[in-house]
Amino acid sequence: MVSGKLKKIKICVLGANGQLGQEFRCIAPEFEFMSFHFYDKKSCDIIKKSDVAKAIASHDFDYLINCAAYTAVDRAEKEVEQCYAINTQACNILVDVLSDTKIKLIHFSSDYIYHTYSGFPIREEDSKSPKGIYAKSKYDGEMILRKSNIPVLILRTSWVISSFGNNFLKTMLRLGAEKNAISVVNDQFGAPTYARHLANGVLDIITATISDPSRLDSFNDTYNFANEGIVTWYDIAKQIMNESKLECKVNPISTEEYPTPARRPNWSVLSKHKIKETYSLEIPHWYIAVKDCLLAVKMDQT
Ligand SMILES: NC(=O)c1ccc[n+]([C@@H]2O[C@H](COP(=O)([O-])OP(=O)(O)OC[C@H]3O[C@@H](n4cnc5c(N)ncnc54)[C@H](OP(=O)(O)O)[C@@H]3O)[C@@H](O)[C@H]2O)c1
Repeated sequence: MVSGKLKKIKICVLGANGQLGQEFRCIAPEFEFMSFHFYDKKSCDIIKKSDVAKAIASHDFDYLINCAAYTAVDRAEKEVEQCYAINTQACNILVDVLSDTKIKLIHFSSDYIYHTYSGFPIREEDSKSPKGIYAKSKYDGEMILRKSNIPVLILRTSWVISSFGNNFLKTMLRLGAEKNAISVVNDQFGAPTYARHLANGVLDIITATISDPSRLDSFNDTYNFANEGIVTWYDIAKQIMNESKLECKVNPISTEEYPTPARRPNWSVLSKHKIKETYSLEIPHWYIAVKDCLLAVKMDQT
């Protein structure tokens, strides 16, 4: 338990208008012993060192949660410079600005950096083979942070869904309302990550380190985080249609039948063993994730 008498933990959130950033905004009031300051791209452009330095200096922060990222995976194949500036070079800026402080960084990376098939859930130490500009830019960003001497927790996540922004779940809801039938890839395996569950997981980790500072020893490390279970995009699409009572038939197709500029891994099944053991986290099943996210979309519409 965290006592109400303790000094509030000050948290800076960058990229606060993205899917994940907005989920932090939503759940922030539930964490009364934390005080949050949110910066979107306009108030803090992470590719500008002066912006980041100004944001960091504005309060006596304990944690910086970096939700800012370039996430247009296919567009990245053409917007190479922009993608690297945001996902990679901005990590140098974060290191520069944070190195004279005691602020702990929480950063997000992607299942795309693994791009490997074993048939077993992928562990953090398994081989990496990022393909495509986005994947490489995320991996290079990780490397910069890992080689630095700032305390940084890196969470590799996959298939993010939210009631905010654009994502697979919202695309399915739109197509399900417009069409009688759609085709969805059924040979890429992984699990969605409801950004709300990820945001909660992050704040639970911070809570755990406050309650038990020895847990900070495990902070400077890399962890996978996704909802539990193994599915394909087709399985998720079917559940979305069923739950939403949309009479749209979902037909399974192969990746070959749905070519994209950036290659997707066909095996994005992340092992969550390490994060669950280290921080005693309970991660909801993907089925609950989709259900909860659909409910949030519905509530946003009312
Ligand atoms: N989405 C996924 O499926 C997925 C999967 C695996 C890992 N991840 C990782 O998870 C993290 C969160 O992703 P997300 O889904 O929340 O992404 P998102 O919805 O695309 O949000 C990213 C946010 O960063 C902002 N941003 C872009 N350039 C910026 C800059 N120069 N300065 C400040 N902010 C900037 C974007 O603003 P604008 O929209 O105005 O550009 C957007 O609000 C990212 O690190 C991402 O790589 C995501």
